[in-house]
Amino acid sequence: MTAAKYVEIARKIESRIEVGQYPEGSKLPTHRSLADSLSTTAVTVAKAYNLLTEMGLVESFVGRGSYVKKLPQLKHVIQSEREEKDKNFSILQPCFGDQLSQLQTTFSQIFTQQMSAQLFSYREDTGSIAHKEAGRLWCETYGLEVSRAEQILLCNGAQHALSSLIECYSKEGDYIALEAQTYPGVIAIIKSLGRKPIAVSMDEYGMQAEALDKVCEQFKPSLVVVVPSHQNPTTVTMPKARRQAIAEVIQQYPVWLLEDDIYAFLNQERVPAITNLVPEKSFYISSLSKAISPGLRCGFIKAPQSQVSHVSEYIRTMVWHASAFMFECAQRLIDSGMAFEMAAEQKIIAERRQEIAKQMLGQVLPDVIFQCQASSYHIWLTLPPSWQLDGLVQIAKEHGVLVSSGQFFEAQNQPSHSVRISLMAIADDAVFQSGLMQLVSLIKRESSSVIPV
Ligand SMILES: Cc1ncc(COP(=O)(O)O)c(C=O)c1O
Repeated sequence: MTAAKYVEIARKIESRIEVGQYPEGSKLPTHRSLADSLSTTAVTVAKAYNLLTEMGLVESFVGRGSYVKKLPQLKHVIQSEREEKDKNFSILQPCFGDQLSQLQTTFSQIFTQQMSAQLFSYREDTGSIAHKEAGRLWCETYGLEVSRAEQILLCNGAQHALSSLIECYSKEGDYIALEAQTYPGVIAIIKSLGRKPIAVSMDEYGMQAEALDKVCEQFKPSLVVVVPSHQNPTTVTMPKARRQAIAEVIQQYPVWLLEDDIYAFLNQERVPAITNLVPEKSFYISSLSKAISPGLRCGFIKAPQSQVSHVSEYIRTMVWHASAFMFECAQRLIDSGMAFEMAAEQKIIAERRQEIAKQMLGQVLPDVIFQCQASSYHIWLTLPPSWQLDGLVQIAKEHGVLVSSGQFFEAQNQPSHSVRISLMAIADDAVFQSGLMQLVSLIKRESSSVIPV
């Protein structure tokens, strides 16, 4: 048997999964029956199934057979509290304490004032120039260079920015390069649009430029998506030198960069965006979801000048435009400086909570790897491979502590031993601390039940 034969069969099964002939969750034929129908041996089929398992498309269970893996759903990553006493460490959003009343005051002021008729009308383009200017100020404050406000396109949050750009700049079957562990929302878009995620390895400085170069050479992706600041989930922030190296790779290939810099406001100092280095080949994405409120659904794309009309037309076709009312609020918050004060306040809360988490979780067990940054919204815990990750996540849930399993962040469904713990979703400091304490004791308890391998 040649290696090519089982790879060929794996590809055949992969395309049957893609076209829905073998739907998600369905049982695959036994080795013997598939071997007979493909005129090959059961050993070759077994090897093909192993390869598909490695690729994350199939899962096999001793005695039960092989199944098409189910796509992880976002509701499993970002979980909703089922009961009031649940402690939610699964959502990356601002901590709503004082900020909630500030937002309520701003909103009530806006809605009791005279509003221009334009706010009630259809708009040309993706929004008014005043709203775009506000977006420009927001992005420029945190590291982006913008030549003209017209290059700022308004959308319904960063998720809408990502889905629009992926639809505009790739087609079905294309590869899209991503950090090996990344934001599950972008993985979900890629899979649901029939594109293929391709993982690029990372180190302590983020996506590795040499690895990206190899992926571009080998897979010819249409797009590269990078989260350069406080990366979700690893918390890594790319230093300038790595940003430069990534930009150099982008420059060499016919590929677009999507720089999702939604956490830039948490950086210790203003770090120049990668987009500044390759402005004609990169789209920069930001949003107010993390610093102000995800409920606003205010996102910004800075497009290369040459692409402004193409993306604007696409957004117009799909949704006409994002809500002018929400951008009116955004503009007032930004122009008055309140948005920046809120962002700074959230950063202070994140720093305080990181300190607490480090003290409580940092030294839980010597073999648990604790990844964090002073002002990130979350931490990334990697457990020893002998641990049952799903067991820990499930047991925590049963105790009313919600955390996100690392498996949802794997760009190519690799097995994970990590959990993401968001430090900001719980508004009350005391509840936050008692939740962390509960988590620590659950981790300790789980560790004592692990049988060493
Ligand atoms: C890296 C990243 N990009 C985009 C989003 C989505 O942001 P928005 O609420 O603006 O759509 C998130 C939310 O968690 C995220 O972590």
